[in-house]
Amino acid sequence: MTAIKKTGGLAGVIAGQTALCAVGGEGAGLSYRGYDIDDLSDNASFEEVAYLLIAGHLPNRGELDEYIAKLKSLRGLPDPVKQVLEIIPANAHPMAVLRTGVSILGNLEPEGDFANQVLVADRLLACLPSMLLYWHRFQTDGERIDVETGDDSVSGHFLHMLHGKRPSELHRKSLDTTLILYAEHEFNASTFTARIIAGTLSDFHSAVSGAIGALRGALHGGANEAAMALIEKFSSPEEAIEGVLGMLGRKEKIMGFGHRVYTTSDPRNSVNKKMAEVLADEAGDTHLYVVSEAIEKVMWDQKKIFANADFFAATVYHFMGIPTYLFTPIFVCSRISGWSAHIMEQRADNKLIRPAADYIGPGPQKFVPIEERH
Ligand code: COA
Repeated sequence: MTAIKKTGGLAGVIAGQTALCAVGGEGAGLSYRGYDIDDLSDNASFEEVAYLLIAGHLPNRGELDEYIAKLKSLRGLPDPVKQVLEIIPANAHPMAVLRTGVSILGNLEPEGDFANQVLVADRLLACLPSMLLYWHRFQTDGERIDVETGDDSVSGHFLHMLHGKRPSELHRKSLDTTLILYAEHEFNASTFTARIIAGTLSDFHSAVSGAIGALRGALHGGANEAAMALIEKFSSPEEAIEGVLGMLGRKEKIMGFGHRVYTTSDPRNSVNKKMAEVLADEAGDTHLYVVSEAIEKVMWDQKKIFANADFFAATVYHFMGIPTYLFTPIFVCSRISGWSAHIMEQRADNKLIRPAADYIGPGPQKFVPIEERH
């Protein structure tokens, strides 16, 4: 019998191969198809990065213009999708809204042949922000917004629909940068979910709906919302330090900290932190940023646990006037690029993903008829 190695949460298990992303080399580092994340966040747009992940190379000018025009043409929502969004209650979780939105779209515009997969990927990347903000604005202001704005970028489209006006370049660029940082991260829980579903030869929309469900949890994408809730609890750095020490003493987890793969830092954090500081200055903030810094310091001093990508992304979004409950859905609007690329990569060399389990239940039992059971 083959010996089974115990690996809680599959930690450290190589579960497949990917050419999309290298993560955690020597405890740090993140690159998409060989391009370092710092280079991409400094020099590229989210659309260039999405193209890189999905098409396999950085686009030239003509390819990028064509891709942007295509995404713009795919932002519209069919009437039945709008009708479904309108009946989802205002107190629903926006991640459930996106999960339903993808599902209904999969019924109206089924993928059919896998040869259509790139079109489905483009369609979802283009219209996820439309679904989210159509629902949000309908439920909060009763407005049926036009989801086909003239903005070129996903970030501009998102903020325009949210606030009803074109965003400042600082806000658009900051959101764009967080989309780049969130776009791809190897075999994280939601991506692995998407690959498992794709591995059964199911359709694209099913794989993405499942991935959205996995991303929602507080141990994964939901951490950015939980981080904001924590930061907002404290009115000063001193209070934050005391509060976090108390939580650590009670063995509570501090959301937005720690990582399964990185050991000393999350390479996305310094970029988010810099943006959070700039946006805090712009907003004239006097406490949220310093409270965040105090939490980061006490976590490092006490536990040597570092802030991950979600922690300062939360303050970046807050200072752009984005409601907290939309933070994790923004992650979806970005990660759809990585999920799509992984679904395609899985399909290109498919093998059903079906691991084994170590049975720890009772030994053989004699069946007892129901009349004789106590
Ligand atoms: N706050 C407090 N303690 C933490 C912690 C955190 N955010 N993250 C890890 N730890 C501690 C655990 O309590 C555990 O301590 P113990 O060995 O004394 O029991 C140890 O570090 C290992 O943590 P564990 O949860 O087992 O590691 P993991 O690899 O399974 O966890 C995460 C990775 C991301 C799930 C974990 O760090 C976490 O829950 N972070 C908060 C949620 C979050 O921000 N998620 C987004 C990730 S990008």
